[in-house]
Amino acid sequence: MNAIEAHNLTYRFPKGDPVLNQIDLRVPTGSIYGFLGPNGAGKTTTLRLLLGLLRKQQGEIRVFDQSFSSRTRISLLHRIGSLIEMPSVYSHLSATDNLRIWQKVYQCPEKRVGEVLELVGLAGTGAKKAGKFSLGMKQRLGIAAALLHTPDLLVLDEPTNGLDPSGIIEIRELLKKLNRESGITILISSHLLAEIEKLVTDIGIINKGNMLFEGPLNELKLRRQQAASVAFETSDNQRALNLIREAHPESRVVSDKLLLPALPREAVAAINRKLVEDGIDVFGITTPESDLETIFMHLTK
Ligand SMILES: Nc1ncnc2c1ncn2[C@@H]1O[C@H](COP(=O)(O)OP(=O)(O)OP(=O)(O)O)[C@@H](O)[C@H]1O
Ligand SMILES: [Mg+2]
Repeated sequence: MNAIEAHNLTYRFPKGDPVLNQIDLRVPTGSIYGFLGPNGAGKTTTLRLLLGLLRKQQGEIRVFDQSFSSRTRISLLHRIGSLIEMPSVYSHLSATDNLRIWQKVYQCPEKRVGEVLELVGLAGTGAKKAGKFSLGMKQRLGIAAALLHTPDLLVLDEPTNGLDPSGIIEIRELLKKLNRESGITILISSHLLAEIEKLVTDIGIINKGNMLFEGPLNELKLRRQQAASVAFETSDNQRALNLIREAHPESRVVSDKLLLPALPREAVAAINRKLVEDGIDVFGITTPESDLETIFMHLTK
């Protein structure tokens, strides 16, 4: 089953071109789904549409197998916790007092305040005012508030934006724990592939309002391998290219390197041997990490 299913979503702001073009999205129940895309790709717009914060113009949204409409919105929102952009935190209040406000709004049992503080690792902050919290702590307080009403689905828009490496790890571990221990489905957006792939089980990639890829993380890794390359740095790249072109027709010289598609190690060693035997010096052999850009290029090819 899918926690969220969106079909054919298109959205345009007044007077603008569409910022989402017929996108489809499936977030499997129990997954941690990474929604990945560069700045301006349409991540926040999509998440706001899914939560009913923007009025849907075209397409279909189903949440927990129910159509998301004015009739079902309230009951569905009871099952969703969300944090879109910065958490709203009362800086003159402690973590507990911040959460007591939301506990009253959500009308959930008082004991949930202590429980969620424990969950996000803020139980020990006592009377310390939220204004004195680090960005990571504020972010965790925001997540605690989103968890108060025990949702089945958590929607987080770039929750690690602006955090330092240790803050990023803290949030990542917290989300993994929530998913593992309470089975909560998590939809999280990010513009950093390296960061998201350490966390997610499934991934959707959006660029300029178009979905480029959706599927399990493993499948993306496979595609990424296909997009990978091997780079040779030699004393004469052009002659090296001529030597290996017949056996490796996809090889090419790019700036000061001879680039080939991903190859087994034995093939790399054989090329190296051939070049050296022909009197070409090999200064380096590298396998550049395929970044988001390379993957985008490969996916849109
Ligand atoms: N209120 C608005 N009015 C007009 N255009 C908007 C509005 N909000 C966003 N846009 C445009 O819609 C596109 C998608 O924006 P969106 O905020 O969804 O991207 P994003 O993927 O969340 O980017 P970021 O990583 O910067 O948060 C952008 O081109 C943006 O300029
Ligand atoms: Mg955004």
